[in-house]
Amino acid sequence: MKMRLDRWLATLSVGSRSEVKQWIRGGQAAVNGRIILDPALSFETEQDRLVLNGKELDGRVVRHVMLYKPAGILTAARDARQPTVMDLLPPVYRGIDCMPVGRLDKDTTGLLLLTCDGELNHRLLSPARHVEKRYRALVEGELEEKNVEAFAAGMDLGDFTAQPAKLTILRPSLAEVIIAEGKFHQVKRMFAAVGHEVLELHRCAFGPLELDPALQEGQWRELTAEEEKALREAAGMGDA
Ligand code: URA
Repeated sequence: MKMRLDRWLATLSVGSRSEVKQWIRGGQAAVNGRIILDPALSFETEQDRLVLNGKELDGRVVRHVMLYKPAGILTAARDARQPTVMDLLPPVYRGIDCMPVGRLDKDTTGLLLLTCDGELNHRLLSPARHVEKRYRALVEGELEEKNVEAFAAGMDLGDFTAQPAKLTILRPSLAEVIIAEGKFHQVKRMFAAVGHEVLELHRCAFGPLELDPALQEGQWRELTAEEEKALREAAGMGDA
């Protein structure tokens, strides 16, 4: 992405726009081995090599993150009172506008994707694309085969009818469920509709991506190139 040097540095959250302008004019910034004194010169953020005070920076402003969301944290860009998933990431991710893809409830754990690519984000959530999400749910009471059928039939939840979902009973009170949409509290509401309150909910997979078993709660990593490619394909952006 082409960007002015002062905006690029400020976007990377190394300093305010006025601070970085001063640093540039003072000869503290170099791009591709040349000191740049003009803050308005533009560069390619994903390719050009950026150095500040002799230290090379990771200049990429397009990044995608997999986070193991812990319980007790809001999925939101910011909140006046409560901690959000953005507080689990270094400030640069806020600077480059990395946004959560959809939402997990405060008490839900598991795989949350964040991306700077607005179109990718939008398409992954579009009902038309049917990107599947897999959850593991611990519920009150004992699940029965008729619940599997109810999930598969598509469920009338009053304000909308849920598309057919795949329920797999793992233990009497533990199940895996795959849905291809993401309405507010959808999984909890589907279980409630068949008489089972959800006690714990965990997202294991989003589209082609599984939560990395190497991540602990609250930890994150960037997606690999293969994961990004698979995600773009799931979003119908295979060639982008
Ligand atoms: N469905 C829910 O009910 N809650 C979540 O956090 C995700 C899906």
